[in-house]
Amino acid sequence: MKRIGVLTSGGDAPGMNAAIRAVVRTALSNQMSVVGFKRGYNGLLMKSLTTEDDYVEMNSRSVSGIIHKGGTMLMTARCLDFLEESVQKEAVRNLRALGIEGLVCIGGNGTYAGARALNNLGMPTIGVPGTIDNDLNYTEFTIGFDTALNTAVEAVNRIRDTGDAHERASIVTVMGRHCGDIAVHTAVACGAEMAIIPEVPWTLEEVADTVHKGVISGKRSMILIFAEGAQDSLKTDLKALKKEYPKLHITREHMTSSQYAEVIEELSGHETRATVLGYTQRGGSPTANDRILATRTGAHAVELLKNDIGGRAVGIKGNKIMDVSLDEALSPMVFDREYYDLVDLTGYVR
Ligand code: F6P
Repeated sequence: MKRIGVLTSGGDAPGMNAAIRAVVRTALSNQMSVVGFKRGYNGLLMKSLTTEDDYVEMNSRSVSGIIHKGGTMLMTARCLDFLEESVQKEAVRNLRALGIEGLVCIGGNGTYAGARALNNLGMPTIGVPGTIDNDLNYTEFTIGFDTALNTAVEAVNRIRDTGDAHERASIVTVMGRHCGDIAVHTAVACGAEMAIIPEVPWTLEEVADTVHKGVISGKRSMILIFAEGAQDSLKTDLKALKKEYPKLHITREHMTSSQYAEVIEELSGHETRATVLGYTQRGGSPTANDRILATRTGAHAVELLKNDIGGRAVGIKGNKIMDVSLDEALSPMVFDREYYDLVDLTGYVR
């Protein structure tokens, strides 16, 4: 191939810029030209008033001074229209009109679903894993996960200081959608007492019990890391609990972290506060690990397209860059308990 496109789609992840840079520079080094499409798959649909707002011809200088920056210079978006085949076909027509022979799609599973659709329509695509969630089963790490994890760890360090001073339990809610990886890794790195994640059933009663036992065993403060998708696996009978504690803000729909804190405080008899880290985890300068992963995977994606190979997703296993089919990359996550069990073992509240 001699001319390719690149885009970032879905939630942004620190390191996406480093990946764009690697794609552009590797392509130019191989005498391939690159077009950068803006706002994910929207950029392929030419919806904006001017073409410059949809896509830009990239040169070596376009990606200068971005390796250390969070966000994505190409911007990102979720594009629901792209679920429709007619829209995917339109994108392929637009790409062909620009002379594009292959496309690198940087993002998570939603991005990969779009990439697979384009590939099936005859436009070779390569997926590069850009998401803080680490929720792609085929790769050990995704770009942005390490930065988000370090941001969460730094935040928990601060929360522990104040929790210690006030002898409180602290709920810290981290991102990750339906995946508990950010939560369990943060919990291990912070020495948290518990990780509450969507992959493992849990009850509010057992969390409160852990807090209670921690107080009895002499712990001054406790850290409970909640994954944002934790409610997926909550097994408490909320109706019965509401009957028993009518004054508590217990709801059947999504409970907020503050509502969890209120219930745990009531059940454990110990002061409990909640902090939601939210989008702080998505921003900021990528760690060295994320920059390196982005550079290695971005370069590999271009090597594949250079050899006219499409329909693959690039990842890392045992510190080796590898690729699998987009079908395999989209297979469901298989939960590995190792980190979860480590939290239980070393958080040690018995
Ligand atoms: O996929 C990354 C992520 O940050 C998830 O952890 C979170 O659930 C979601 O995106 C938030 O998405 P949005 O930016 O649309 O609020």
